[in-house]
Amino acid sequence: MDTVYVKQNEISDEIMGKAAATIRSGGSLFRSTETVYGLGADGLNPAAVKRIYAAKGRPSDNPLILHISNLEMLKPIVQEISPMAKALMEKFWPGPLTMVFNKTELVPSETSGGLNTVAVRFPNHPLALKLIEKSKTPIAAPSANSSGRPSPTKAEHVLEDLDGKIDWILDGGACKIGVESTVVAVTDEVPVILRPGKITLEEIREVCGGGEYDRHLIAEKDEVVVPRAPGMKYKHYAPKGQIEILSGTTEQIQNYINAHDAAHTAVMTFTQFPVHHENLYSLGNIENPEEGCSELFDYLRTFDRLGIEHIFAVMPQKEGVGFALYNRLLKAAGGKVIVL
Ligand code: TXA
Ligand code: MG
Repeated sequence: MDTVYVKQNEISDEIMGKAAATIRSGGSLFRSTETVYGLGADGLNPAAVKRIYAAKGRPSDNPLILHISNLEMLKPIVQEISPMAKALMEKFWPGPLTMVFNKTELVPSETSGGLNTVAVRFPNHPLALKLIEKSKTPIAAPSANSSGRPSPTKAEHVLEDLDGKIDWILDGGACKIGVESTVVAVTDEVPVILRPGKITLEEIREVCGGGEYDRHLIAEKDEVVVPRAPGMKYKHYAPKGQIEILSGTTEQIQNYINAHDAAHTAVMTFTQFPVHHENLYSLGNIENPEEGCSELFDYLRTFDRLGIEHIFAVMPQKEGVGFALYNRLLKAAGGKVIVL
């Protein structure tokens, strides 16, 4: 299949009309959102949804997020909108928050990965919103990477993974946030975070008066807890090299790196941990984890391109948005944390 690539400054109303027609006829395309780049297909059309799974090489039990562009689109696809869900959408939509509701029959089981629930997000990105409006259907929108690879935060990442596998690429510019949306279940008494992101547990508690992380996110090392977001159980975000997360003082970390340094090694650190290495990548200020979030996935892909085999990463803080950075890094490291 020839993928049509449209640059940001060439995206006209006419192009958007054609892209929407592709969606309505069951095609798939890619376009930017404010979190990471997303694929798009008609989320209510099982055949279109299947093409997404095929393009990504994604296991069919890992459900997709439906993107909407106004609140009216929510009612037909969910069973009920609780006061808690209402409060969250008033505060955070449009934005990087995905909510998991009980679904209606309108949502095909291909989209929900066979679950009775459906994940919905109202993105805050003009291109994404315009496309949904023109397509007149909720758009299923997984991250536009091959399954298992780091999510794409630049258009070139999508080309690496999906060129020739989708109909269109609409390049809407850089993704500001760089990690995927916070996923929160609103089907229980209190909101439960299934995937941490830019919207934090603290912010959700402020709105709802309560809220928890799903147990798998905070499980002790020897505890086996199955995540409720099926996607969180897969190996994900992982570069080809082995990451070790290092927790300690700058001196301890420096000594560890010196003792274990080898060819094809890279180091990711924060400004507060000024370690020395010839192949150093900055995750910015540890107190401002947004900086690290926007760089992480690009670094992981860069390491693959450069043939990096060993990666040392300084441990992020676990509070606020730092927890999202820690979560992605921990998955990329296959859980390998070294406390010095
Ligand atoms: O920021 C984002 O959310 C990006 C942009 C493109 O919108 N999308 C994204 O989609 O990250 P994806 O498919 O890569 O990740 C969706 C996550 C997976 O971990 C999946 O298991 C979980 O959401 N999920 C989807 N539907 C669910 C459901 N009904 N119950 C529990 N988890 C669900
Ligand atoms: Mg993904």
